[in-house]
Amino acid sequence: EKGGYDYFMLKEIAEQPKAVADTLLGRIDAAGSLTLDEVRIPPGVLREVDKVVIVACGTAFHAGLIAKYAIEHWTRIPCEVELASEFRYRDPILDSRSLVIAISQSGETMDTLMALRHAREQGSCVLAICNTNGSTIPRESDAVLYTHAGPEVAVASTKAFLTQLVACYLVALYLGQVRGTKWADEIRAVIRDLAQISGQVERVLETMEPVRELARSLAEKRTVLFLGRHVGYPVALEGALKLKELAYMHAEGFAAGELKHGPIALVEEDLPVVVVVPSPRGRSVLHDKIVSNIQEIRARGARTIVIAEEGDEAVVPYADHLVRIPATPTLLQPLVATVPLQVFACELATARGNEVDQPRNLAKSVTVE
Ligand code: M6R
Repeated sequence: EKGGYDYFMLKEIAEQPKAVADTLLGRIDAAGSLTLDEVRIPPGVLREVDKVVIVACGTAFHAGLIAKYAIEHWTRIPCEVELASEFRYRDPILDSRSLVIAISQSGETMDTLMALRHAREQGSCVLAICNTNGSTIPRESDAVLYTHAGPEVAVASTKAFLTQLVACYLVALYLGQVRGTKWADEIRAVIRDLAQISGQVERVLETMEPVRELARSLAEKRTVLFLGRHVGYPVALEGALKLKELAYMHAEGFAAGELKHGPIALVEEDLPVVVVVPSPRGRSVLHDKIVSNIQEIRARGARTIVIAEEGDEAVVPYADHLVRIPATPTLLQPLVATVPLQVFACELATARGNEVDQPRNLAKSVTVE
């Protein structure tokens, strides 16, 4: 059932191009508009929404952090993202004009379920983004958009994460479509870009041998840091989470702009630091800033592992290891940038003799608080 792979995680990483394509399938009509009829929230309700609140845990929370950039950019509706376990004990401000999005692979995570129950009690409309048909979270929500990743067995989430991102982008565009902030041709353009992603993930997967080799060479390290900016920041958090749960190594993700506010003190000779670099096209300011961040940490002895777009030459002089990813629009970059981090963590876990599919102390779905 592992389809010839040693671990479910490897199989699930390899299934990502299909999972991404399947999650887009049937959700765009011939005219290029989104047809999320399955999301049975009346357009009138969506037009009235004045705030989006995303609740989730773990990897699904990281998908939510990325969704915020897309939702605010494409719809201009303010969006908050919160860990479900914090949200429910905070007395959050919600009403009937708040749209709450609960993201969960399993649909059974207790904290996320409690958060959505709380939101519904406040009169908010809850949309679940979920991978498991008929599970509790979608059953208790007002509406659901299923991700089509197929069953995810490995405890560490991979393909579910990529499909959560796709679902979030679709919801953001749909909100824009219904409210008229995004016009048909712009939506079509993003959809076209999204349709390319599956093939781009495939290409990333074909070039992962150097990443595996690098991971094996770092098996004796104690700490790895991850840096990113903008949507690359949640990608850094996700890379660190994967490494913690699989390799049992100390790993932390930082917003690169925060370096000088503390974390740079951690940098010492030969410390591996993974940096997710935004595209040099588009938001080039961000790109330039991160290039200086790479220079700063390297000057202090860090071993830089740089994830950068094909054709980005500015990073070359400062990268001890360079991992290339295909060029994508800024907001969609997490779909390709996360993949090398998954492979990296999986290979490090193997090199350290850890149980890849069943890391110690963890359960696939956390149905207790
Ligand atoms: O089933 P859920 O998406 O609600 O699960 C949330 C987290 O427990 C989950 O993403 C966890 O962080 C994974 N082990 C991460 O790889």
